[in-house]
Amino acid sequence: MASREICLGIEGTAHTFGVGIADSDAKVLANEQSMYVPKEGGIHPREAANHHSEIAGQVIGDAMRKAGLSRKDITVIAFSQGPGLGPCLRTAATAARTLAISLDIPIIGVNHCIAHLEIGRAVCECSDPVLLYVSGGNTQVISYANGRYRVFGETLDIGLGNMLDKFGRDMGIAFPAGPRIEALASKGKKLVNLPYSVKGMDVSFSGMLTAAQQMKEESMEDICYSLQETSFSMLTEVTERAMAHLAKSEVLLGGGVVRNRRLAEMVGSMCADRGAKCFVPPPSLCSDNGAMIAWTGLIMHRAGVRMRLEDTGVLQRFRTDDVDVTWI
Ligand code: ATP
Ligand code: FE2
Repeated sequence: MASREICLGIEGTAHTFGVGIADSDAKVLANEQSMYVPKEGGIHPREAANHHSEIAGQVIGDAMRKAGLSRKDITVIAFSQGPGLGPCLRTAATAARTLAISLDIPIIGVNHCIAHLEIGRAVCECSDPVLLYVSGGNTQVISYANGRYRVFGETLDIGLGNMLDKFGRDMGIAFPAGPRIEALASKGKKLVNLPYSVKGMDVSFSGMLTAAQQMKEESMEDICYSLQETSFSMLTEVTERAMAHLAKSEVLLGGGVVRNRRLAEMVGSMCADRGAKCFVPPPSLCSDNGAMIAWTGLIMHRAGVRMRLEDTGVLQRFRTDDVDVTWI
């Protein structure tokens, strides 16, 4: 019988320093985190990294206590190798290397976007989905084909979450602005005209951001409502087209923005119309989290992936389709 593997995963691509612990039954034993919130403006990478290094020891300790484990129970260490902000990635990688060396156990670098997909696939029990991954920094439509997760569509400029956060910042809404924009949007009634930018399978949001920032006459509720309706329709359109091209009948949502109920509702109704299924992981596993890194590291290790310390350098522009998916 294969022995039980337990992986501790460290997430640190951007504002969240997360530590998760998962076992080989896809059981999440712990998922602890601390988020860096800038005092004003956007994320400053160096400051976020300082936050991560200050709280790393504490979050690792919290996760171990939550899981009720001692250090010798951990059999693999995983960390978010990229894509993300250099200083944040390096801090998480350093914490992971330190643990792996001191415990004398293997270390695996994980692609952050793939981790969003793998944790969703495990907890929602879907098999071959199209992933709509929408976070602050990323907006991608991803699916498995011929040994790799391939990006079938993506943003040509900024991630949708960044767009919402930037709009929010201008309007005096604290970071992260998504939840407040969702609340305001629920009171909006009028659909105001905003650029609907779908180019083939790709989308772009900077034109919509500029147009919304320049609107003076409309109410905040109506602008937020229109931002959501327009951007979510764009994402629903490209997701549906990916499903049609690939003949796939499952959609999995991932990334912080899919905590938005209206987005899940729109993609869900598109799926219902096609006789397809839409899966939404619990909110704590949608946003950046350590559990998704732990679980992905664990399945990679089980599939025979091995990394030397020299292979664990961070990859700020780590592409989803750079990884050989040997575990499917
Ligand atoms: P990544 O590193 O993958 O780009 P991230 O650092 O942006 O991820 P996430 O936790 O995945 O982190 O996503 C955070 C984003 O999700 C923020 O932009 C935030 O405004 C947005 N968000 C959170 N809740 C909601 C919501 N209810 N509606 C819309 N957006 C939301
Ligand atoms: Fe993310």
